[in-house]
Amino acid sequence: MASASYRYCFLLSISFTLFIVSSALTEADILLSFKASIEDPRNSLSSWSSSSNLHYCNWTGVSCTNSSSPTVTTLNLASLNLSGEISSQLCELTNLTLLNLSDNLFNQPIPLHLSQCSSLVTLNLSNNLVWGTIPDQISQFESLRVLDFSRNHIEGKIPEGIGSLVKLQVLNLGSNLLSGSVPSVFGNFTELIVLDLSQNAYLVGEIPSDIGKLKKLEQLFLQSSGFRGQIPDSFVGLQSLKILDLSQNNLSGVVPPTLGSSLKSLVSFDVSQNKLSGSFPGGICGAQGLINLGLHTNFFKGPIPSSINGCLNLERFQVQNNEFSGDFPDALWSLSKIKLIRAENNRFSGKIPDSISMAAQLEQVQIDNNSFSSKIPKGLGLVKSLYRFSVSLNGFYGELPPNFCDSPVMSIINLSHNSLSGQIPELKKCRKLVSLSLADNSLTGEIPTSLADLPVLTYLDLSDNNLTGSIPLGLQNLKLALFNVSFNQLSGRVPSALVSGLPASFLEGNPDLCGPGLPNSCSDELPRHHRSIGLSAMACALISIAVGIGILLVAAGFFVFHRSSKWKSQMGGWSSVFFYPLRITEHDLAVAMDEKSAVGSVGAFGRVYIISLPSGELVAVKKLVNIGSQTSKALKAEVKTLAKIRHKNIIKVLGFCHSDESIFLIYEYLQKGSVGDMIGGRDYQLQWSVRLRIAIGVAQGLAYLHKDYVPHLLHRNVKSKNILLDTDFEPKLTDFALDRLVGEAAFRSTIASESADSCYNAPELGYSKKATEQMDVYSFGVVLLELITGRQAEQAEPVDSLDIVRWVRRKINISNGAIQVLDSKISNSYQQEMLGALDIAIRCTSVMPEKRPSMVEVVRGLLSLSSKTQLPGSDFSMQEENSVPV
Ligand SMILES: *[C@@H]1O[C@H](CO)[C@@H](O)[C@H](O)[C@H]1NC(C)=O
Ligand SMILES: *[C@@H]1O[C@H](CO)[C@@H](O)[C@H](O)[C@H]1NC(C)=O
Ligand SMILES: *[C@@H]1O[C@H](CO)[C@@H](O)[C@H](O)[C@H]1NC(C)=O
Ligand SMILES: *[C@@H]1O[C@H](CO)[C@@H](O)[C@H](O)[C@H]1NC(C)=O
Ligand SMILES: *[C@@H]1O[C@H](CO)[C@@H](O)[C@H](O)[C@H]1NC(C)=O
Ligand SMILES: *[C@@H]1O[C@H](CO)[C@@H](O)[C@H](O)[C@H]1NC(C)=O
Ligand SMILES: *[C@@H]1O[C@H](CO)[C@@H](O)[C@H](O)[C@H]1NC(C)=O
Ligand SMILES: *[C@@H]1O[C@H](CO)[C@@H](O)[C@H](O)[C@H]1NC(C)=O
Ligand SMILES: *[C@@H]1O[C@H](CO)[C@@H](O)[C@H](O)[C@H]1NC(C)=O
Repeated sequence: MASASYRYCFLLSISFTLFIVSSALTEADILLSFKASIEDPRNSLSSWSSSSNLHYCNWTGVSCTNSSSPTVTTLNLASLNLSGEISSQLCELTNLTLLNLSDNLFNQPIPLHLSQCSSLVTLNLSNNLVWGTIPDQISQFESLRVLDFSRNHIEGKIPEGIGSLVKLQVLNLGSNLLSGSVPSVFGNFTELIVLDLSQNAYLVGEIPSDIGKLKKLEQLFLQSSGFRGQIPDSFVGLQSLKILDLSQNNLSGVVPPTLGSSLKSLVSFDVSQNKLSGSFPGGICGAQGLINLGLHTNFFKGPIPSSINGCLNLERFQVQNNEFSGDFPDALWSLSKIKLIRAENNRFSGKIPDSISMAAQLEQVQIDNNSFSSKIPKGLGLVKSLYRFSVSLNGFYGELPPNFCDSPVMSIINLSHNSLSGQIPELKKCRKLVSLSLADNSLTGEIPTSLADLPVLTYLDLSDNNLTGSIPLGLQNLKLALFNVSFNQLSGRVPSALVSGLPASFLEGNPDLCGPGLPNSCSDELPRHHRSIGLSAMACALISIAVGIGILLVAAGFFVFHRSSKWKSQMGGWSSVFFYPLRITEHDLAVAMDEKSAVGSVGAFGRVYIISLPSGELVAVKKLVNIGSQTSKALKAEVKTLAKIRHKNIIKVLGFCHSDESIFLIYEYLQKGSVGDMIGGRDYQLQWSVRLRIAIGVAQGLAYLHKDYVPHLLHRNVKSKNILLDTDFEPKLTDFALDRLVGEAAFRSTIASESADSCYNAPELGYSKKATEQMDVYSFGVVLLELITGRQAEQAEPVDSLDIVRWVRRKINISNGAIQVLDSKISNSYQQEMLGALDIAIRCTSVMPEKRPSMVEVVRGLLSLSSKTQLPGSDFSMQEENSVPV
């Protein structure tokens, strides 16, 4: 075929054809010989073959000029696990301008010979295993505009010769092992836009002041290297600078006084974790202007005065962990784009003005451990993007404004160790609040009952105040991992479910509290409480019996109706579809379910019958009641969607039959029962390897539903009772995606009535409108906890026992004993694997949905546990929310 096309061209124009053929073959040959010199374990370059050498511009990673005689300009072979020798032959691609070999496994010194590539403009070797020093001959790369050697093992001094690369726009040497002091060669880099020398721990000496000459520099990263001395005064000349990161060095002295007002384009300013001192330059952001105008005392609504033109783009301001003192720059609090303010662990004084309401993008404030002194501003509740407000260890005083927690995304509030007084306002709007600490203030009044309505509240510290009254009973419905009310004036009975598993010291210092574990037993009140508990328990029992009878009556009614309708008109009203050759009729089904021999168990959406077919096979039939109003056609399509799923960890839908009122779903039947039965069983003795295999199978099934199956499905009812086991203990998910059959409304109301408080439900279920993958992940995490601890998720007895998530969180949090939660029936030799699984389960059951891993990540995590018997134990760490400073 190739020769035919040559001949065709030949007829047209001999010389033109010769040119194309010769140049094409040459470039393809160069590429093929490059391929021959490297290792390609994943065969990513399979398209590079001599059989397609006329189309080399279409090969993986290759781009050519768009002309009649295409030549290679770009080679982008990032992230392919390539290794071997980068040969200088590449430079025979005379028009090669961009070579991107980043994120591979090239293990060699800097390939100086690439400087022969005369057209090369961009060289990216980031994230390889490149080693050795940077030779002075680096100066030969004169044509380069982008040089990225970051994330390798390059060592030694930065040579003076690098100063010859005067065309550079991007120079990235970050995350290497460079040492010595940085030469003063930067004045030459007049085109430089990005300079990154960060994370070179062995760099020493001062920051070269000629960096300040780089008028086009937009991003300067010098963090986590060994720089000491002052921030050069010349930095005020960096007029284009947007990102300045000098954090985690050993810088001292004061910040150049006019720095803030000079860097007008600044978006991110980070000098955190140094030894900088002095008062912060008053000039930052034209702060003086704002103070002089007195805006901080008013709610400021109008346009920003033109005199305040500094920092208008500032989004991140980080000066934490230094030795700054003096007044904190007031103007920062009202910048329209500011997102992050961190200044903790300094000696700043000053206030947070009410004009904070203008900071409409503000997300995080951390100024703990300073000497701020003001009221908590009334404007705080108007900032709707704020999710962390942490100002502990300061001198804030006065009453809390009623709206202080009005931001709908507020997640962490720490006002501890201040001088706040008055009552705690009712908190109603911050439905995402995870952690609230008001410890060590002078708050009075009662604990607001509205706290019990915050669905994800997990850490609550009210210790060391003057709170009175009793502890609201509703708090025991929260999944609190920390509840500290010590040293107040609280009285009355302690709700036992609230404090079980927590140290008694969290209650001490309240002489009038009584209850188990406290010096005072509530002896005098006991009878009354008993009676009321007894009464409510009895009422509860009566109601459930009544409801139960109701359900039975309704079910019976349905059943009779079906039967009779069936007898009257054999096919009328009923239709069935079988996806497997089941020799069974609706009649057989009805008769079978009528018989006493059918074993029935009640699930969330109806009864499950185990039926023996005439052939002797057993099938499970689930009868869905409370179905929505889908047309028969739509219903059929939905069931078909479920029935087409083929995965070893998902139970097969064999068929269904339905009438207007109910649906019978026919599933394959597994003899071994469910994981839930097994955990509940008295002799629950599964080995760890089997449990891990079950967890992996379930995770794989869910990952398949979420990501691989089309349409993507959510399970929405993951729990150990819905995981069946075959004879080899291979798990299979059942009861999946029933929302698609009964309809969203009916599904929600069934869930709400039957399992509203189930501990398998993600906490956000209560307030979120949409079902998400993360909710399945949460439920999976609960199942995983059951497998790890050998405890049932919800224990019926005793009444005040904790659900499993709370139980595990409290154990881990308080006694520092993750090991204590592991099932003691399993040998210690699996401890590391179990701790690894526990870490995954804790992350799956995070109260914050966005912190949960995807099922795909879970599968990967669990598989890595089972492959290496050795541990992620060393980096076993609770995630952030478990170490929230409260
Ligand atoms: C290159 O690939 C594209 C899409 O894969 C295809 O349409 C085109 O025909 C190919 N060109 C050559 C010359 O093979
Ligand atoms: C390549 O050339 C074709 C035809 O001349 C043109 O339509 C196309 O937009 C060009 N593509 C690029 C990326 O320049
Ligand atoms: C190199 O490839 C990576 C990954 O595809 C990409 O993120 C990066 O922008 C590329 N760099 C250059 C300089 O082309
Ligand atoms: C890439 O190489 C590393 C190290 O050899 C190996 O562990 C990893 O599995 C490889 N990844 C792929 C996707 O081949
Ligand atoms: C490719 O490089 C050659 C030699 O350097 C040059 O003559 C030619 O103009 C270049 N072609 C393109 C399209 O840049
Ligand atoms: C180099 O490639 C990495 C990805 O491997 C990318 O993150 C980086 O931005 C690239 N460098 C430049 C300067 O584009
Ligand atoms: C600046 O670049 C010129 C070449 O353009 C070179 O001769 C000189 O040595 C460089 N200066 C420094 C300080 O490297
Ligand atoms: C920081 O600098 C001080 C003196 O300025 C020195 O004593 C100290 O060792 C340095 N610390 C580090 C981590 O380099
Ligand atoms: C808090 O109570 C203590 C002890 O009763 C009392 O001494 C103190 O004055 C009270 N403080 C406030 C602010 O009410």
